[in-house]
Amino acid sequence: MKVLLCGDLAATGWDTWQVWQRALAAAMPEAQWLDLAQARREPADVDAAVVANPPPGSLQGLPKLRLVQSLWAGVDRLLADATLPAGVPVARMVDPAMTAAMAETALWAVLSLHRGFFAYAQRQREGRWRVHAQRRADEVRVLVLGQGEMGRAAAARLAAQGYAVQGWRRDGSALAPRLAAADIVVNLLPLTPATTGLLDAGCFAALPPQAALVNLGRGAHVVDADLLAALDSGRLRHAVLDVFHEEPLPAGHPFWQHPRVTVLPHAAAQTDPRSAAVVAALNLRAVRDGAPLRHLVEAGRGY
Ligand code: GLV
Repeated sequence: MKVLLCGDLAATGWDTWQVWQRALAAAMPEAQWLDLAQARREPADVDAAVVANPPPGSLQGLPKLRLVQSLWAGVDRLLADATLPAGVPVARMVDPAMTAAMAETALWAVLSLHRGFFAYAQRQREGRWRVHAQRRADEVRVLVLGQGEMGRAAAARLAAQGYAVQGWRRDGSALAPRLAAADIVVNLLPLTPATTGLLDAGCFAALPPQAALVNLGRGAHVVDADLLAALDSGRLRHAVLDVFHEEPLPAGHPFWQHPRVTVLPHAAAQTDPRSAAVVAALNLRAVRDGAPLRHLVEAGRGY
C-alpha cells in the first residue's frame, strides 16, 4: 500500500516529514510512504493519503485514492479545498493523546479563570498586591459547547474537578438560556457553516455579567469585534483564545496586548505522532482490507 504523507506538519508541533513518517512506519511497516513530489511522479500508485491541511490541489489527480486520513481533528480547512476529490472518504483524527491534552488545557483555563490567576498575573505586571475573594469549584458553572470526543473529555475532566458542568451541542436546543446560566464557556464545537460566527454580540449579551470565554475550537466561531466590545465594556471578564481567524495571529492584532485576553499559539492540544500513527494505521488497514472506517466525515454535516 502506498500512502501520500503531506501538509503543514510543522503546525502539529512535530515539525518534520521524517518524524511523522517514522511514527507511521512504526505503526504500519508494510506501507510505503510518499511525499508530495514522489506522489506527483507516480500518481497512479497512491492508495491513500495522510494529511495535515495540505496545500489546495495536493490530492487531485490520484486515480486510486481511497481514503484521506486527516492528522487534524478539525477538518474545516481540508474540506474548504474545492479540489478535494469527491467521493473519497475523509476521516478526522481522533487521537487519545490529543483528547487528553485538550481536557488538560480546558482544566487549566477554567481553573485559572475560577481562581483569578490571570488577574493575579496582570497585577504582578502592574506591581500591585491585592487578593480577591475565593470561590469553590462547585460554585462555578461551566458550559462546554460541543459534545464530540474533545468536548466530552473536557466536560468529564472539569466535572471530576468539582465544577458545575453542562454540555451543549447543536441539536436544536436553545443556546441563550444555557449561556445565561454559565460563568465560563468553553468552546469545542467543530467549525461548520452553522457554527461560524456563533460567538457574537448576542451570545455575549446572553451571558451573566463577568463571564469568561475559553475558545479552543476555531477562530471563526468568534466575531472578534463583538468579543473585543464585550471585553472592553467589562461585560466579559476574560477570554482565553487558542485559535484565531488568521494564524499566526497578526502582529498588532488587539488580542496580543489586551489585558483581558490570554493568547495561545494554537497549542491547546497537538496531534501526537506516536498515538495518531496507530489511529491512522487502523484506518489505512481497514481501507486496504475493505473493513469499516472510523471517524468518517459525514457529507452535509461538515465534520
Ligand atoms: C487542531 O486544531 C486540530 O484540528 O487538530
